[in-house]
Amino acid sequence: MQAINAVTVKAKFPIKSYSVEHGYPARRRSLVDDAKFETLKNKEAKQTWLQEQRSVSQDEDLSEEEVFLVTECPDEEANVPKQTNIVLTLKTGITVLPRILKIIESSHGNVFHLETRRAYNNVSTLDVLVRLDISRNGLLHVMRSFRQGNLADVTILREKAVSIKDPWFPHHISDLDYCTHVMTKYEPELDNDHPGFSDKVYRARRKEIAEIAFNYKYGQVIPRVQYTEEEIQTWRAVYQQISHLYPTLACEQHIRVFRLLEKECGYGPNNIPQLEDVSKFLKRRSGFTVRPAAGLLTARDFLASLAFRVFQATQYVRHSSSPNHSPEPDCIHELLGHIPMLADPSFAQFSQEIGLASLGASDTDIEKFATLYWFTVEFGLCKQNGEIRAYGAGLLSSYGELKHALSGKPQLLPFQPEETAIQPYQDQDYQDTYYVAESFEDAKEKFRQYVAARLPRAFEVWYNSFSQSVHILDSVDKFEELASSLKADVTRLNNAVNKLKAQ
Ligand SMILES: [Fe+2]
Repeated sequence: MQAINAVTVKAKFPIKSYSVEHGYPARRRSLVDDAKFETLKNKEAKQTWLQEQRSVSQDEDLSEEEVFLVTECPDEEANVPKQTNIVLTLKTGITVLPRILKIIESSHGNVFHLETRRAYNNVSTLDVLVRLDISRNGLLHVMRSFRQGNLADVTILREKAVSIKDPWFPHHISDLDYCTHVMTKYEPELDNDHPGFSDKVYRARRKEIAEIAFNYKYGQVIPRVQYTEEEIQTWRAVYQQISHLYPTLACEQHIRVFRLLEKECGYGPNNIPQLEDVSKFLKRRSGFTVRPAAGLLTARDFLASLAFRVFQATQYVRHSSSPNHSPEPDCIHELLGHIPMLADPSFAQFSQEIGLASLGASDTDIEKFATLYWFTVEFGLCKQNGEIRAYGAGLLSSYGELKHALSGKPQLLPFQPEETAIQPYQDQDYQDTYYVAESFEDAKEKFRQYVAARLPRAFEVWYNSFSQSVHILDSVDKFEELASSLKADVTRLNNAVNKLKAQ
């Protein structure tokens, strides 16, 4: 089959920017709402694309699988026989097999292996695995004949674990330049509920800062923003109020790193730290880096960046009339809530694992990961030394909600990914429910088990931190590469244990 260029596929199923022109009905947006909306939009985009392809092929009855077959193999190779594996789901039982083989033969297909098994989804029917040499046009003829004769559904098993049918995802950290889709519904110039709606100066300032993110490309230094006295005043109001709560309500990881940020990154009431500086700080401590985002990103793009240990952070400051509440992320939320937590290696790994699980996941699963992200990275609580403390960035950057979460009023439930992933949540007001993790390690382990048991993605990924790329584990070569890297680490671990024992 033809190798498909990643960018081409992205262009084929464009992930849209969910601005007003796409008709999103609600005023305020969140990662979870967006994932739901994205599910709908992606379905529509795929149907439109399939319809276009059917028109081009002048066959309105082409099945989805047939459309993909035509797209994957160029016309000049359409009559060249190739080894292909297909699974037939028989519609009426095994007795149709002779007819099926006859059709394959008349389409110049040469079967060299055939086996039956119980159908994956329905134990009362049979699946037939067929290995054969056949051309694209021959296979198309076979599929059409099966469809017209109501004989069998055909699924092509592709050589690569990731095919054109899977959602596109970045493979190298530089691909994140394509993962910058902003949801533009709730913006100072679009929504008259926004505190900056009637403030022309604020709107111009937002545009100016957003331009930095729009122009940013992987590898560049993040331009510094010269914050105004008014912006620093807003930062100061939040900083002074909330930092008093940290010693008693924030988790120990946040408290520890916050002190370091004050020493090393210019955190303090009179200075808004720069993204470039915190990015360098994070890189040293956990391998995370920051790239500027123009606003709230789509769930898929935002989660994908976490797979590369990249955090997409806004750089603008909320409107000065509303220092204690921001209906959208701003740099106060990122700097006070997210940055300290991402410096903790265990939390950084947890964040990356959510990101890795999201790559190529279905829209429905993205919705679940966005919800899990919401109740952990944004609003998570954890047990520490017999107390419950906050680790979620939405809590650690909001004086009111931090106090509310630990006031005894809301419902606190143990973190269980299966339940958390489908819990409705509140983004207009404080949450009614929070989830408490035993520890980050425990949350990570539960999340891993959840992904292993529930994520139907057909492939596994591995992040190579040296090349900053995601590898699909779909060949012996890739397994060997991973195994040799693990072997070196295990040998080092053994050596260290032996040296310790010898002391
Ligand atoms: Fe956030």
